[in-house]
Amino acid sequence: MKTVLYPGSFDPFTNGHLDLVERAGLLFDRVIVAVAVNAAKSPIFTMQERCGLIRESCANLEHVEVVAIDGLLVDSLEYYGADAILRGLRAFSDFEYELQMALLNRNLKRKCETIFMMPTLKNSFVSSTLVKEVARLGGNFEDYVPPPVADALKIKLGIVK
Ligand code: PNS
Repeated sequence: MKTVLYPGSFDPFTNGHLDLVERAGLLFDRVIVAVAVNAAKSPIFTMQERCGLIRESCANLEHVEVVAIDGLLVDSLEYYGADAILRGLRAFSDFEYELQMALLNRNLKRKCETIFMMPTLKNSFVSSTLVKEVARLGGNFEDYVPPPVADALKIKLGIVK
C-alpha cells in the first residue's frame, strides 16, 4: 500500500491541483491532500473551507483523503504513514523554491522523499494567486477551478454575475 501526501495551501484548490491528484491516484494506492499553513501567505479561505472545497472537488475520486495539518510537514508525513511528499512543478520558476523545500525536508527527516509531477499543459499556467487576481478584477476564472471552488470564490469575493 503506497501513500503519497500532497501538501499545499490550496487557497483555492485549482484545476492544476486536481490534475495532480488524479495523476497521483494512478501511481499511489492512497492520496492524502494535506491543507497546510504557509507562513508567508494570508489565505482568503479558512482551513475548514479549503478542506471542504477540496473534498467536494475530489468527490468522484477514490482513495483520496483530505486533511488539515499544522506543524512541520515532515511530522505529518510520518503521522499519516506516507511514503513520499508530492509537489507540482509548472514552470522552471517553481524549481528553486521546490528544490529548497525538498532538501530542507530531507534534512529534517532523512527518509523524506519528495516527488514532482507536472500538470497537463493547459493547467500549467494556473496558480491560486492568479485565479484570485483574475476573479477580483472581474475576469473569467471559472475555467481554472473546479465548479465548487468557482461558486465559493464568487461568494467570498462578492461577485454577482
Ligand atoms: O501551496 P504552497 O503555499 O506552496 O505550500 C507550501 C507548504 C504549505 C507545503 C509549506 O509552506 C509547508 O510545508 N508548510 C508546513 C510547515 C513546514 O513544514 N515548513 C517547512 C517546509 S520546508
